[in-house]
Amino acid sequence: MRTTISVLKADIGGYVGHSTMHPDIMDLAGSVLEKKKEDGFLVDYRVLSCGDDLQLIMTHTHGVDFEDLHKMAWDIFSDCADKAEEIGLYGAGQDLLADSFSGNIKGMGPGVAEMEFDERPSEPILIFMADKTSPGAWNLPLFRMFGDAMCNPGLILDPKIHDGFSFDVLDMKHNKSIRFNMPEDMYDALVFIGSIEDYGIRAIYRKKDNEIAAVASTQRLAMMAGRYVGKDDPVMICRAQNGFPSVGEITEPFSHPHLVTGWMRGSHIGPIMPVAFEDAQCMRFDGPPRVICAGFQVKNANLIGPVDMFDDPAFDKARSTANEIADYLRRHGPFEPHRLSLGDMEYTTLPIVMEKVKDRFKSLD
Ligand code: F6R
Ligand code: MG
Ligand code: MG
Repeated sequence: MRTTISVLKADIGGYVGHSTMHPDIMDLAGSVLEKKKEDGFLVDYRVLSCGDDLQLIMTHTHGVDFEDLHKMAWDIFSDCADKAEEIGLYGAGQDLLADSFSGNIKGMGPGVAEMEFDERPSEPILIFMADKTSPGAWNLPLFRMFGDAMCNPGLILDPKIHDGFSFDVLDMKHNKSIRFNMPEDMYDALVFIGSIEDYGIRAIYRKKDNEIAAVASTQRLAMMAGRYVGKDDPVMICRAQNGFPSVGEITEPFSHPHLVTGWMRGSHIGPIMPVAFEDAQCMRFDGPPRVICAGFQVKNANLIGPVDMFDDPAFDKARSTANEIADYLRRHGPFEPHRLSLGDMEYTTLPIVMEKVKDRFKSLD
């Protein structure tokens, strides 16, 4: 049986400010999805939140990029934005860039990660959701899961994945993609995927049979809108075990709270903190950036779970390191590299200030 998992997410309004999601919004989304499940349009669904982002996790048999499903999600996000406005939540409709739906939700604001596969007899799936960061945040952990034997011993020890994986990398600023095979293209790939504001890993395939292993959302809101409209808080789906990295090889990269772009005003660098669902609330300096991981077994497209994968004391050290890094970086105030460089900031007063002071610059030539 071909099963499709679709994770569609949007910031449709925050509570309080940009910190979390209001429960009434989640209830509204859940009630629509429940009807769609009863009608047989969806097999199963879950509604989760990470920070101020509403996460719709859906399983069905319609394949990826299915127009009716994208339209349904768009309508849910729009109704939730109306509700957010009615309650008085902050930034209602923030990620909904278009006035009406036009065929595919990609390019309209919400983030999308979808994959279709033939279910194995047992299909463990991990869904990662992050807030206050952008798609390049997944580059380092995806590399470590699928390309780095220092993190994933299965690449050495398991004949089923010993051949390696193929990385589909998107040039996010020029909308072009390229495939890199690991390990043979590793050094070439790292030239690009190390640039987290420019290149994002879109998908990963098992090299020997091109079987889908992971997909990530790579939508960049600011690029679509041509102005600041919020950050592109990303999601990704990974398949685990038996021909893929194990669950623990997939969660292991998050034991290191690596630096990502985003945080306050989408204009800073900060550590990404792996947290339990209930701690996915961005309260300090609008962050620090958070990541949650929902684990499922999928059977006949039914979702068994979620298990809250970072609700584990083994990630306490990563959390405390993230807090230490946050303190250290915050002491830089508005100075780089805590604050992003001028070109990568989501907000900037540069044109206004430059206009104001331009006559005071004296040429020294
Ligand atoms: C970052 C984020 C927040 C806001 C900040 C200012 O992705 O959502 O840090 O950028 O709170 O928000 P506005 O401009 O809405 O007042
Ligand atoms: Mg927001
Ligand atoms: Mg957000």
